[in-house]
Amino acid sequence: MHLDGGRRRGFFLTLEGPEGSGKSTQAHRLAGRLTAAGYHCTVTREPGGTLLGEEVRQIMLHELSPVPAADALLFNAARSQLVAEVIEPALARGDVVICDRFTDSTLAYQGYGAGQSIEALRGLAIYAAGDLVPDLTILIDLPVEEGLRRKRDSAEVNRFESTLDLAFHRRVRDGFLALAAAEPSRFVVLDGHLSPEQIEIAVAEALRPRLSDRTELRRSNAELRPHGLPGEMSEPKGTSVRMDK
Ligand code: TYD
Repeated sequence: MHLDGGRRRGFFLTLEGPEGSGKSTQAHRLAGRLTAAGYHCTVTREPGGTLLGEEVRQIMLHELSPVPAADALLFNAARSQLVAEVIEPALARGDVVICDRFTDSTLAYQGYGAGQSIEALRGLAIYAAGDLVPDLTILIDLPVEEGLRRKRDSAEVNRFESTLDLAFHRRVRDGFLALAAAEPSRFVVLDGHLSPEQIEIAVAEALRPRLSDRTELRRSNAELRPHGLPGEMSEPKGTSVRMDK
């Protein structure tokens, strides 16, 4: 799917979900587990992951409230920079790239949530990210009341969370579920009520069969642990996890 004439050798995993679903925790847990199993990982997030992306993040989530069309353009501007600067080079090196949110978030939030044309947003995503589609997308699903309650207890609340528009967040959640239903081979949907440990194991199990036949992935100690991902709990061996966050 992502070989593109042999250019991309890595594996592209995205984590998606409504507010408070625990994606960021899982991104870092998964990176630790993969590194322990000998894979080289790059962890990043949207919006963010580059200087431009982090500026956009600060402005959009904490300073201004752009209209939905401007939101869509700005999220995609940050995405375009992230793809060119971080994701594509990491995939070309043969890394497993773990990205906390990607194009499905724009479809769910600006499309299903804020009513922008899904078709137009898909076109915009292609303009920003080219033919880059995740190899696997983990959707951590959670009722919006539960997710927003979790977020209210945390320090950083962004404008999507602080507006507390339950109907908006319900449309976002339903949008994610609709996207997952439409592409069952790309999405794995997990129940966000599970404990972080249970979700971590489920993510690793979803990933294992998809990684095991990808011999082109860059690995440091593959010969020692050919298929060690789900069971491996040992500490990382100092391989390259890039935390662009
Ligand atoms: P963040 O604090 O990272 O939230 P979370 O931890 O839930 O990911 O903020 C990202 C916010 O930006 C989140 O509310 C979703 C929103 N967003 C969009 O509306 N569209 C997008 O394309 C992306 C990437 C994020």
